[in-house]
Amino acid sequence: MATKTGLKGKVAIVTASTAGIGFAIAKRLAQDGAHVVISSRKKQKVDAAVQELKAEGLNVSGIVCHVGKAEDRKKLIEQTVKEQGGLDIFVSNAAVNPTMGPILETTESVWDKIFDTNLKANFFLIKDAAEQIEKRGGGSIIQVSSIGGFIGDEFLGAYAVSKTAMIGLTKALVPQLASMNIRINTICPGVIKTRFSEALWKSPMAEEMEKTTIPMGRFGVSEDCAGAVSFFVSDDASYITGENMVIAGGVKSRL
Ligand SMILES: NC(=O)c1ccc[n+]([C@@H]2O[C@H](COP(=O)([O-])OP(=O)(O)OC[C@H]3O[C@@H](n4cnc5c(N)ncnc54)[C@H](OP(=O)(O)O)[C@@H]3O)[C@@H](O)[C@H]2O)c1
Repeated sequence: MATKTGLKGKVAIVTASTAGIGFAIAKRLAQDGAHVVISSRKKQKVDAAVQELKAEGLNVSGIVCHVGKAEDRKKLIEQTVKEQGGLDIFVSNAAVNPTMGPILETTESVWDKIFDTNLKANFFLIKDAAEQIEKRGGGSIIQVSSIGGFIGDEFLGAYAVSKTAMIGLTKALVPQLASMNIRINTICPGVIKTRFSEALWKSPMAEEMEKTTIPMGRFGVSEDCAGAVSFFVSDDASYITGENMVIAGGVKSRL
């Protein structure tokens, strides 16, 4: 797609952005004109993603960050501000789902890992990012939750509950962030064809599932999510905050 200039001069961080949904969001925000900081756990993947986007003429840099590590989170925000002069947009995309299965089979260590990454790390990153975004006079924060957070799910178990908590967090953060001139919105994707969800879209029942459970008749692709984020962080969404937007091809959702 053609490069737009709506985010020219803005600095954005996207966590977990070397593959899948995060990569598509990072690419789109860079195409919209922002400088985008790419990050994930593995340096090799960060370097490869940066190289790929730079080769397309996009304005990106990379910082390794395992969101589960407090020192990495601190470094991600501090280094971005030091190197790019500030922060305007923060996209919290990293999450884990170590097991699939009935929720009552969740062990304590799995529960802790899910909530430490998907909720605690997400919250403290947002807190630190907001402090920096306020210094620039305001900006935008995006969380990546899931339709699983709306509907719960027998097989997504504790992961889905952590995603429900993120939906609540969107609402809880609105008043304080609004007073800092920061908008926060959350996207809640359905099944998007990435490595993370391979077990669903590569399963023998996948074709049947697409036809019978998704009104639009197809699984999503990462770009379906990137477009929504591009809108939410743009001035076109200047009066929109606290929303949890489902991107799921018409699958019904209600808390
Ligand atoms: N795909 C779906 O169907 C779907 C549906 C609803 C919601 N979501 C949500 O969308 C988000 C992205 O998922 P995806 O489907 O795009 O996954 P993906 O394609 O598997 O990509 C995962 C990315 O996360 C990075 N990563 C993994 N653990 C990390 C950590 N602890 N800290 C920092 N980076 C980490 C990976 O790089 P490294 O290996 O280098 O760390 C990679 O860049 C997640 O929040 C997920 O819950 C996905």
